[in-house]
Amino acid sequence: MSNRPQWGTRAGFILAAVGSAIGLGNIWRFPATAYENGGGAFFIPYLFALLTAGIPLLILEFTMGHKYRGSAPLSYGRMNKKLEWIGWWQVAVSFVISTYYAVIIAWALSYTVFSFNLKWGSDTEGFLFSNYLQLAETPGQIGGLVPGVFLPLLIVWAVTLGVLFKGIKKGIEVANRIFIPTLVVLFTIIVIRAITLDGAAEGLNAFFTPSWDSIMDGKVWVAAYGQIFFSLSIAFAIMITYSSYLPKKSDITNNAFITGFGNSAFELLAGIGVFSALGFMAAQSNMAVEDVVSAGVGLAFVVFPQIINEFPALNGLFGFLFFGSLVLAGLSSLISIVETFVAGVQDKFKVSRTKAVLFGGGLSAVISILFATKGGLYFLDVADYFINSFGVALSGLVQVIAIAWFAKELKNLQTHANGVSDIALGTWWKVCLGIITPAVLGYMMFKNIRTNLNPETYYGGYDLSFLLSSGWIVAIGAIVLGFVFTFFKWDKDELKIPENKEVSQ
Ligand code: ALA
Repeated sequence: MSNRPQWGTRAGFILAAVGSAIGLGNIWRFPATAYENGGGAFFIPYLFALLTAGIPLLILEFTMGHKYRGSAPLSYGRMNKKLEWIGWWQVAVSFVISTYYAVIIAWALSYTVFSFNLKWGSDTEGFLFSNYLQLAETPGQIGGLVPGVFLPLLIVWAVTLGVLFKGIKKGIEVANRIFIPTLVVLFTIIVIRAITLDGAAEGLNAFFTPSWDSIMDGKVWVAAYGQIFFSLSIAFAIMITYSSYLPKKSDITNNAFITGFGNSAFELLAGIGVFSALGFMAAQSNMAVEDVVSAGVGLAFVVFPQIINEFPALNGLFGFLFFGSLVLAGLSSLISIVETFVAGVQDKFKVSRTKAVLFGGGLSAVISILFATKGGLYFLDVADYFINSFGVALSGLVQVIAIAWFAKELKNLQTHANGVSDIALGTWWKVCLGIITPAVLGYMMFKNIRTNLNPETYYGGYDLSFLLSSGWIVAIGAIVLGFVFTFFKWDKDELKIPENKEVSQ
């Protein structure tokens, strides 16, 4: 499509890419993942994964989108017809993620409102699981809709689809221009307050003190790669889609470095803020930091409300800032996740943006209701684990192998990126993508599949039947869908790389 819409400005694109990268993964996932996987020592696998896989893959995806000017399936298809399915697979993975990601933002939205009167009370755990989520007793039970989750979920979808209806420049770009600076200001206020609380130093010590043994543990490396992929929105089809709206003159490599380091800087800021607050809470309750830390859902929705209860002053305001930040970070990422299938459907089926948003976004919104039921949290936990391990990370592995070894396109992509960028990509880029990432990620994937097939180490201690129906089927289904979508034919000439006419939206 030569009349593909474009970003209004370079800053607009960078804010959108950073907005996609900075999300629940930075605030909700990173601090606990880093802590559980060796604290200070986690930074070694983290930096290794960032420099050898994260940034090189980001450059790869930006280059693909810019060169082939299509949604992920179209860009893969234009590069090599046999690779189109990987684009659809990654779109399907994003589709699954969007269905539960929206629900976590809905929880954060409720908690933003609860902050005003600290509605969660003193038993924040009981409040979350019994009063708010009304969690079912056994995994696999659906048990009815929870109105307190469903209503904010409707708002989340209304905002997301509303932005997407308006298009690239007037919708996504404008939303990120508002959300991202606001997020940075709100979050900086929280971090400054957190590091000046009593006990903050203990929290930071716990966060940064390396436990060197963990470096030898394969699980820690899996966690680092998983974190980098999720956090940078790579192997999600997102960055290919977003960069397909770049004008011809765009510095790809520089944009990727800004996005990658910007995201990690925010991640570090989140870690510092969260652990300072945990140190404060430990000091208040005379406990060790390791006894107050908890992962994912528990950290944000159980421990944080407790910390906010303990704040010396302005408790409600800080609750509002924290949960409001989660909402903003989450929305800017959700918008990018949904845009992958909106763009894919538009390119392949030649429908208007409005129809693609209504159909694609609408379908995801309907499926997301499953996670707003009493059994929702269990489905969410398993779907999230499987789609990240065997959707994001596995498709990232397939992506690098297919491009480097099967299609042998790295050289061409390098030439394309170097033709428009200030910083030239050297051999290091091809070595990272062609050798280091496939070797390290491939080994990890092999070990991880073995772990998940061993009944002693089934994920989360769930029953096999539940893991099959909510995890494996979802992850394998995304691959199958990848192939199914390739059976529909492209319009004539669609797979030719279009001229870039520098048109604006
Ligand atoms: N990159 C997004 C996040 O970190 C998906 O949440």
